[in-house]
Amino acid sequence: MPIQLRSGECIPLEMHKVRMVQRLNLLPVEERVRASQEAGNNTFLLKNRDVFLDMLTDSGVNAMSQEQYAAMMNADDSYAGSETYYRLEAAVREVFGDVHFLPAHQGRACENIISQTFVKPGQTALMNYHFTTTRAHIQRNGGKVVEIVRKEGLRVKSDLPFKGDTDIDMLRAEIKAIGAENVAFLRIEAGTNLIGGQPVSMANTREAVRIAKDAGILTVFDASLLSDNLYFIKVREAEFAGKPLSDIALELGSLFDVTYFSARKLGCARGGGIFTPREDLYNAMLPLVPLYEGFITYGGMSVREMEALAVGLRESMDMRVVEQTPIFVEMLASELTAAGVPVVTPAGGLGCHVDAMEFCDHLPTDQYRAGALAVAAYIASGARGMERGTLSEERGSDGKDRIAEMELLRLAVPKRVFTMSQLRYVADRLAWLHENRRMIGGLEFTFEPKILRFFFGRLKPASDWPGKLAEKFRKDFGEGL
Ligand code: F0G
Repeated sequence: MPIQLRSGECIPLEMHKVRMVQRLNLLPVEERVRASQEAGNNTFLLKNRDVFLDMLTDSGVNAMSQEQYAAMMNADDSYAGSETYYRLEAAVREVFGDVHFLPAHQGRACENIISQTFVKPGQTALMNYHFTTTRAHIQRNGGKVVEIVRKEGLRVKSDLPFKGDTDIDMLRAEIKAIGAENVAFLRIEAGTNLIGGQPVSMANTREAVRIAKDAGILTVFDASLLSDNLYFIKVREAEFAGKPLSDIALELGSLFDVTYFSARKLGCARGGGIFTPREDLYNAMLPLVPLYEGFITYGGMSVREMEALAVGLRESMDMRVVEQTPIFVEMLASELTAAGVPVVTPAGGLGCHVDAMEFCDHLPTDQYRAGALAVAAYIASGARGMERGTLSEERGSDGKDRIAEMELLRLAVPKRVFTMSQLRYVADRLAWLHENRRMIGGLEFTFEPKILRFFFGRLKPASDWPGKLAEKFRKDFGEGL
């Protein structure tokens, strides 16, 4: 809950207490250079024991409530027809209305099922913006992705409250140009991940969906980052100021033909699910669940996680639970901005997004500015973030890098995991790094996988800049960590 101190300063007060803790380790800076080298200068490949604050993602690492843990003990372990499934289905229906539910082991598994069912070779999926795994699944099924986010969404700094919104004129123009029959579906992503966790508004979503439906185009909603988006609709869209989050969720969900989510994010558990109000669509997707996931009453999830998810979904409608992430992200973004560090504004959900395009503007764009910044930030702080830029793209058919529209370092803020002092520490070390940013050098691949190369790719620094950065750190901080 945001609360004002006597000085006028506003702080994000936690509305929970910590009852179980995990010990953390902050390696000396020289060790951080070594760990980064061993990990091929890819933060995905760092061992967690070498990481102080794991800000890679919020996926599957959000703190769960005592009610979620308690529910896990009450699971019904059966292959088919488990009570746990019916409890989860009831929770999905309570939150999203009268829908048919299909469980899956995580978000990308839902994308596999949806893409295999609804994408035909040569078709286009229109979307406000892609997510890495979403696009990969659509392309694997012979489809193509066209993004129609409003152009302000791709500007790092903006006043637009809903940067994830669809450009309605572009949507109309694309449908006309491609032909509705060649559009696999319109996909709207809540809390648009790759452009900085930016929300979509209800008004824009209603209109985009209406246009697609009028043209007979299927509509798909990615609700993985729904909870932050609900918060933003409530605080930034006048029509919803007095409404409970549950009303907003119900209305948003009911707009679409098919909704899916990663339960590693929504519901603070591990798993995923698809739901639809339409029986024909449910029946079309159904056969793929036992083929790829498991029987339809568990879909690859453990029954314990399903119980935690049922509770977590209901808790995701509680403003005191939901607002925790966006107000912490806002605080981190404000501290960084005050120190002159360029970040995506307005602050979104999920995490704070540092603009590597500007932070490392001395580096050529093909030396992976955001990747280099991720390495430098780990060396400077022991916190690991995630590259969300050119490294996360795939090469074009000419073999050249496709330079990403945004070059970001994402510092994820998993729900209810970090304290204010930990985030202020990260902001401080990033401010130091910004003062020394010219010391950051480029990266080049030594091993480059063809698909989703950012996961396993290994890179080397263009010079010994990590070592020199560590020396400067020692000089400035003495024996300090
Ligand atoms: N859609 C969105 C918007 C996501 O953010 C993610 C995952 C997925 C789908 C896939 O879900 O991981 O359960 O298979 N995002 C994670 C992240 C990986 O770090 O942002 P999943």
